[in-house]
Amino acid sequence: MKKSRVGIIGVTGYAGAELLRLLLEHPGAEVVKIAARSAEGRPLGEIYPGLAGTGLVCTSPSDSFSECDFVFTALPHGVSMEYIPALRAGGSRVIDLGADFRFQDPELYAKVYQSQHQAADLLAESVYGLVEFYRDEVREARIVGNPGCYPTAVLLGLRPLLAAGIVHSEGIIIDAKSGVSGAGRGLSQDRLFGELNENFRAYKVVGHRHTAEISHYSGADIQVTFTPHLLPLQRGILATMYLTLKPGVPASTVFEVWAEAYHEAPFVHPHPRGVIPELRWVVRSNCCHLGYDYDPELSRVIVVSVIDNLLKGAAGQGVQNFNIMAGLPEETGLPLYSPVV
Ligand SMILES: NC(=O)c1ccc[n+]([C@@H]2O[C@H](COP(=O)([O-])OP(=O)(O)OC[C@H]3O[C@@H](n4cnc5c(N)ncnc54)[C@H](OP(=O)(O)O)[C@@H]3O)[C@@H](O)[C@H]2O)c1
Repeated sequence: MKKSRVGIIGVTGYAGAELLRLLLEHPGAEVVKIAARSAEGRPLGEIYPGLAGTGLVCTSPSDSFSECDFVFTALPHGVSMEYIPALRAGGSRVIDLGADFRFQDPELYAKVYQSQHQAADLLAESVYGLVEFYRDEVREARIVGNPGCYPTAVLLGLRPLLAAGIVHSEGIIIDAKSGVSGAGRGLSQDRLFGELNENFRAYKVVGHRHTAEISHYSGADIQVTFTPHLLPLQRGILATMYLTLKPGVPASTVFEVWAEAYHEAPFVHPHPRGVIPELRWVVRSNCCHLGYDYDPELSRVIVVSVIDNLLKGAAGQGVQNFNIMAGLPEETGLPLYSPVV
């Protein structure tokens, strides 16, 4: 298998470290350059003793990456856009795990992220990397905006049902829970072990930025309430969605619509009515499992979607995008099954 030369900026973060772990064992990638602001000049084995033996040394995010065919940026939103213009000028194709290239419209970005986009001229060449819906666009993309973790879990369940016209677009409620790695590695008092352990809380109850991403890529004009919660676990997202089935639609149609939408998607597993997915089915895999049940009294479909936030929700999906861009089979180098089943 021909190997692409890849670089990663932001290896000191959770998503960057997960990318590095995947790409070091990827048969179609050779990691030739890694960078992080706080680890410049340090050997990889010193930053992560568990990844000793590669010979890689961390450089500055501002270095040239022109020897890389692909560069992954795993940086906070607002930071990736500082580096990506130089990466593109150097000829690399870019997969950004942050939010800077998820919207093609700079005004929408400014509205959602409350700041002006600093590389708006590059937005036109970016593609939203939710592979299951944008596979053809991703293949030729120069910049991929890898989706947010919550939108990935939500859109994989919701979008086909809206596209098939079997659920109402109004009154959608999404109640989603994430493990703490979803918030990154930065220090914060409310994410200390003592604050999280044996605790469970909602946060950003109104106005979480992923609400806009979910609405924008739902493929319909939806009204949605999205409430995220913090689980006292390291990884995993479980999203519960409350939808109203249209009159005359049999509940079994939900499964049929998903089965049709994902019959060629190696990482998305729909289940028939009554089979409700659990986090342990997906943790440490790149998969999404979808399940549902139906309450006939209320015409309500309750959908449950689970993913690993660091894999299908971040680094794994980034590698899935890379595989498609590099002309490799979509599953290359990615875990198809959870080791805990
Ligand atoms: N964690 C998830 O589950 C997840 C899921 C989907 C998407 N994402 C997105 O992926 C990106 C990375 O997330 P993460 O969870 O890995 O965050 P993280 O653990 O906080 O890591 C952030 C990384 O960005 C670097 N960084 C921060 N500010 C910088 C600056 N001004 N200049 C240069 N580098 C800077 C940090 O480097 P130093 O510490 O070395 O300075 C670190 O390598 C974010 O945009 C996040 O929204 C994360």
